[in-house]
Amino acid sequence: MSIYRLFWIIFISAYSVVRSDDFKEEMYIKPLPPSHLYTYFQFITIVNHKSTEHSHLSPRSLGEVISRFKVDELHLTLTEGQWRHHQWGYPVLDAAPGAELYAWFATDVDDIDTQWRKLTSTLSGLFCASLNFIDNFNTVIPQMALWPTGAVKPIQNITSQLRYASLPREIVCTENLTPWKKLLPCESSRGFSALLNSRMIHNTKYHSIGVHVRKICANKDCTDTHLEIKQTVALVYDYKIINSMDWSFRKLFGQGLPGACTLSSASTIYVDVTTNSSHSFKLTPSPHRILQSQRGASETEFAVYDIHNNGEMINIGAKYDSKYSNNMTVIIPPPIYFNRYVLGYGKEFGGIVTELVNNYMTAIDVVLLENAPWWLPIQLSSLRVNGEANNKLVIAQYFSPGRNRQKPYHLELLIKLPPRSTTTVTIDFEFVFLKWQEYPPDANHGFYIGSALITANLPTAKQYSSLPISGSTFDSIINASKPWYPAVFRTNGAMVSLPTPDFSMPYNVICLACTVVALAFGPLHNICTKELILKPVGTPVSLTQKLMNLLKRKKD
Ligand SMILES: *[C@@H]1O[C@H](CO)[C@@H](O)[C@H](O)[C@H]1NC(C)=O
Ligand SMILES: *[C@@H]1O[C@H](CO)[C@@H](O)[C@H](O)[C@H]1NC(C)=O
Ligand SMILES: *[C@@H]1O[C@H](CO)[C@@H](O)[C@H](O)[C@H]1NC(C)=O
Ligand SMILES: *[C@@H]1O[C@H](CO)[C@@H](O)[C@H](O)[C@H]1NC(C)=O
Repeated sequence: MSIYRLFWIIFISAYSVVRSDDFKEEMYIKPLPPSHLYTYFQFITIVNHKSTEHSHLSPRSLGEVISRFKVDELHLTLTEGQWRHHQWGYPVLDAAPGAELYAWFATDVDDIDTQWRKLTSTLSGLFCASLNFIDNFNTVIPQMALWPTGAVKPIQNITSQLRYASLPREIVCTENLTPWKKLLPCESSRGFSALLNSRMIHNTKYHSIGVHVRKICANKDCTDTHLEIKQTVALVYDYKIINSMDWSFRKLFGQGLPGACTLSSASTIYVDVTTNSSHSFKLTPSPHRILQSQRGASETEFAVYDIHNNGEMINIGAKYDSKYSNNMTVIIPPPIYFNRYVLGYGKEFGGIVTELVNNYMTAIDVVLLENAPWWLPIQLSSLRVNGEANNKLVIAQYFSPGRNRQKPYHLELLIKLPPRSTTTVTIDFEFVFLKWQEYPPDANHGFYIGSALITANLPTAKQYSSLPISGSTFDSIINASKPWYPAVFRTNGAMVSLPTPDFSMPYNVICLACTVVALAFGPLHNICTKELILKPVGTPVSLTQKLMNLLKRKKD
């Protein structure tokens, strides 16, 4: 009897924990005319913050990392390719090429730097990525560019709890996707993640996988918090690779969708059909409902599919009307976009230029974060905005000089971009010599400079991609216009070629030395090993001697 009661109590308490658990999977498809298709997956797990290990949904390994290292908020992305803001508009979540990681630690963490290093090594093991290369020498503490998106206590200097690092050289491959999928409650057997098959994913023009952890309020007064774990995948397909504008799940992912994940509370697919007005296309099967959203001077129409777990294979596809498929697409650039390149010639000095274009009719305030590695020393004195040293457009600036092998150079500028203008930010750098072990094996390939971060409060939600309901760059809610849409973007990366010693020289020396040794060896060996015997030449033999010799032979 008592045992039953105990069981009952355990059941009730487990039940009350499970109630806060929720898992949702969402997929968003948006054609990016004229030549690309954007697909975005997000898997959101919400668990009670205090009991991640008692949850049947939350990935235990990640939950433990979060609680062990007292992380308040964490963003990790692994990206291959470059998002083209100018052509494609804004993605749901932007990511820097390569690996990018930033995290806020709880206020009671004393030694954040040590905790950060431990966190990066642990995540490196968890995701099979080279995050263990993150160290003090490539970590910065952004002062203005990044703000937590979750529920955190408003403290004065929240930025001191933040660490940011990016590894632009990191290559994303199947090894990273497999552990990422293991964090999902249904892994890759069921649900939308079954579509993420690495052979098809790595055939795209741009792919990015991410994990975003934050705290969200559990009640109205925010006295309690839940942990939200959002796993995302963004893919951009090129119509040239799939051979037509018509797409279907079979074409994109190699297979149809085998139904929803049994553990999910909602599995929804949104197809952005706004472009249907100029390029007529038909969706098969026809959508369950149509959703219209009007926010920030932008109108969007979504075709919505509610997927259930009824065992049937679903293959959603779009077929373009060939009459309209040649319609010209006028690319309207988003309110701000940017470009970054390297200046200079020779191997002594160079410069990084970041071009910021404000395409909107009002001024926009942006924060630009430049993060230069220690081997690319930048000087604040060489900073020029539109060619002038003290430009009035710069409202605030922060500079933290780097130190060799210890600290990167970190520059942040708050700039007011005038309406319909292009602003160029130029800063010069010097080339340095590295120690010979510090060169990568392919030193002549060049050295990557990470992207600059650009944070903006956009006055309009035009040219954005967002899911209609939950979590995106703009945290959108249908028809909810806001005065500002805060967003963080990354520019493209750049590459420099540092002065590199001639690594082929040792090889040449070895070859030459070997040839010389080989040539010298033969004659020397002969001289040293062969015995010289004097051979008597031309001594006359007497007749009697010859006879004696003959006789001797006969006797024998
Ligand atoms: C942050 O603020 C707290 C209290 O306001 C203060 O004790 C601490 O020194 C500050 N840290 C930094 C890095 O400024
Ligand atoms: C697309 O082409 C069709 C047929 O040529 C035309 O009627 C329609 O107006 C065009 N739409 C746009 C946006 O150009
Ligand atoms: C696109 O527009 C055409 C013609 O207006 C309509 O027949 C079709 O159903 C629309 N497609 C979608 C996916 O809404
Ligand atoms: C949003 O606005 C559109 C157009 O004004 C309207 O048709 C739609 O019903 C609204 N949606 C919601 C959820 O209020």
